[in-house]
Amino acid sequence: MSDELHIAGDRPDARSAGISLRLATTEDLDRIMQIETSVFEADAWSTELMRHELADKNCHYVVAVIDMTGEEIIVGYGGILAPRGSGDGDIQTIATIPTVRGRGVGRVIMHDLLTAAHDRKAERVFLEVRADNPIAIGLYRSLGFAEIGVREGYYQPDNVDAVIMRLDMNAVEPAGWSC
Ligand SMILES: CC(C)(COP(=O)(O)OP(=O)(O)OC[C@H]1O[C@@H](n2cnc3c(N)ncnc32)[C@H](O)[C@@H]1OP(=O)(O)O)[C@@H](O)C(=O)NCCC(=O)NCCS
Repeated sequence: MSDELHIAGDRPDARSAGISLRLATTEDLDRIMQIETSVFEADAWSTELMRHELADKNCHYVVAVIDMTGEEIIVGYGGILAPRGSGDGDIQTIATIPTVRGRGVGRVIMHDLLTAAHDRKAERVFLEVRADNPIAIGLYRSLGFAEIGVREGYYQPDNVDAVIMRLDMNAVEPAGWSC
C-alpha cells in the first residue's frame, strides 16, 4: 500500500497561489507574535511560550509567506506537537492574517501539520477550538476531525467552551483519504 498521505478535502488550491510555506524558526518570533497578539487578543500566548514552542524538537512549526519583490512577508503560521514514538499529535495553533483569509492558506498549513504528524507516526491528532469559532471548526471538520468532547468555560475571561476534536490517522487508509 502506498504510504502517500491524502487528506480529506485535499486538492490543488489556486487561491493560495503566490503563498508558500517554510519551516518556522525563532528568527520569526517577532512577526509571529505580532500576528498572535492581534488575532487571539486575550487568548494570545506569551512571547516566551511561543519561543519555547518554536525551539522544541517535538514540535513542527511553519510560516506561510508571500514574496513581495524580494521581501518576505509572513501572513500565517501553525504548529503541531508530535513527539516521535508517542503516537499522538496536538495541533497547537494556527492563524492567518485577515487580509489573506479565505484563500486556502489555513488549509495548506493544516495539510503540512498533518503531514508532519504522519511522518512522525502519529495515530491520532487532537486539537481544541473555541466553540464560538465556526470557521475554524468548519476547516477541521472538512479535514476529517470529529468532535469528541467539550471543556466548559475553558477560555477565560470570555467563559467560552473548548471543543475537543480528534482525527484518527489510522481510520483513513493512507492512499484513500478522499477528495
Ligand atoms: C481559521 C483560520 C486559520 C482559517 O484560515 P484561512 O486562511 O481563512 O483558511 P482557508 O482559506 O484555507 O479556509 C479554510 C476553511 O475555513 C472555512 N472558512 C474560511 N473562511 C470562511 C468564512 N468566511 N466563512 C465560513 N467558513 C470559512 C471553510 O471551511 C474553508 O474551507 P474552503 O474554503 O477550502 O472550503 C483563520 O480564519 C484564522 O486565522 N482565524 C483566527 C485564528 C483562529 O481562529 N485560529 C484557530 C484556532 S483553533
